[in-house]
Amino acid sequence: MTTREPRNGETFEPSPEARRMSRRKFLVRLGLGSLALTAAGAVSGIGSYILPRVNFEPPSAFTAGRPEDYDVGEMRLIESQAVFIFRTPYGFQAVSDICTHLGCAYQPYGPPDEEYAQVHAHCPCHGSVFARDGRVLRPPAPRPVPFYFMTINPAGLLVVDKGVYDPTDELSRLSGEGIGHNLYLDPETGDLVEGPLPTGEDLRFG
Ligand code: FES
Repeated sequence: MTTREPRNGETFEPSPEARRMSRRKFLVRLGLGSLALTAAGAVSGIGSYILPRVNFEPPSAFTAGRPEDYDVGEMRLIESQAVFIFRTPYGFQAVSDICTHLGCAYQPYGPPDEEYAQVHAHCPCHGSVFARDGRVLRPPAPRPVPFYFMTINPAGLLVVDKGVYDPTDELSRLSGEGIGHNLYLDPETGDLVEGPLPTGEDLRFG
C-alpha cells in the first residue's frame, strides 16, 4: 500500500480498503508474535529438561576450629558438613562422609574385625564398606570417598575446602579421582605433607 503526506489544510482519511489491509497486517503480526513466543517457551522448556539444574559453583570452604582443639588420634564428624576430620600423629585429614553410591551418610570408622582386617566404615544403606584411605572394600559404592584439601587461615583456623582434592598422590593418579589419600596438613607449618598411607593405627577408637 502506498501512502502520501497530506498537503496544507488537507485532511487525509485512509480508504476502507486501506483500513482492511492495516487490520490484516496487524492480525498477521500479532499471530507471528504469539507463534514466536510459544516457540521460545517450548525451546526454553526443552533446554531445561535436557540440561539439569546443576549448581556449578564450587562448594564453599568451611573452618573446623583450631588444630589444638583436636587430640592426636581423634576422628571427629562435622555433621553439618558431612566431613570426618582425622587428627593423626602426622597431621590432619578431612574425608567426605557421603557414600559414593547413592549419597547416604556412612558410619564412623571402626577398628579391624573378623570380616575386615583393617580400619573400615560401613554404609548402612546398601552395605558398601570403605577403608581408612577412602578405597572401596565392598561395593556397590563405585568410587573411593574423597579427601578434601586443608589449609590454615591467617587466624590460625583449619580450613577444609570441599571443592578441592589434591591430585598429587599415586593412588589418585591411578584411580583418576584426584583424591589426596595420603597427604596430611602439618599444623606446625601449614604445609601439606606426604605421610604413610593411613592404616588406621593412627586413630583411637574409644
Ligand atoms: S548409599 Fe551407601 S551403599 Fe548405597
